[in-house]
Amino acid sequence: MNTKSTNITKVSHRVAKETRWRANGHQGGVIWLTGLSGSGKTTLAFELEQRLFKQGFQVYVLDGDNIRHGLSSDLGFSHEERTENIRRIGEVAALFADAGYIVISAFISPYRRDRRLARKAASDPFHVVHLDADLKICEKRDPKGLYAKARRGEILDFTGISAPYEKPERADLTIDTGVLSVEESMDILADYVDRAFALPEAAA
Ligand code: ADX
Repeated sequence: MNTKSTNITKVSHRVAKETRWRANGHQGGVIWLTGLSGSGKTTLAFELEQRLFKQGFQVYVLDGDNIRHGLSSDLGFSHEERTENIRRIGEVAALFADAGYIVISAFISPYRRDRRLARKAASDPFHVVHLDADLKICEKRDPKGLYAKARRGEILDFTGISAPYEKPERADLTIDTGVLSVEESMDILADYVDRAFALPEAAA
């Protein structure tokens, strides 16, 4: 996005990124969960947050339904509004990551270009995790009854029904949450995060 502000100069922090990482015992960065509504993003995000926090990690979830009550409360679900939603989340995630946190973001984020821009906003490790549950299974689960509403035409632009979901072409990790249980999916995800955010010297 082009910045409209003029006469602005970037200032450097006096606390180095590596200093924050060492103090926390892990790298900062972003775990970007993407997938259809009902694919398990929220469930896995909050479960992972709790598990990592208990292990002493600095970790925080940014979740679609929560953010749309505040930061993105002015946005709906058109292509442009989703793009703006993901742009904001990408910037917020980048700030948290810069502060040394592991950010778990849980948004449908259906467009490849938007996910790419979110990755670009972060100067820290950024891992795309695709929760690849089949549409049929998500629709059958329908935990919030939204697919049924979308089929009845009561919700427009519903992802998977009347709006697209562009699968990641090269996700860093893909979990078939349509087939695996929450526990099985969590084990894969937690194991991945343990390795992905280890301090560089610990990983060497
Ligand atoms: S995104 O496309 O901009 O990434 P986001 O993850 O913030 O979406 O919000 C998705 C949540 O909003 C869903 O979990 C669902 O509860 C709700 N929702 C309401 N309307 C829609 C819609 N038209 N399409 C998808 N999700 C919707």
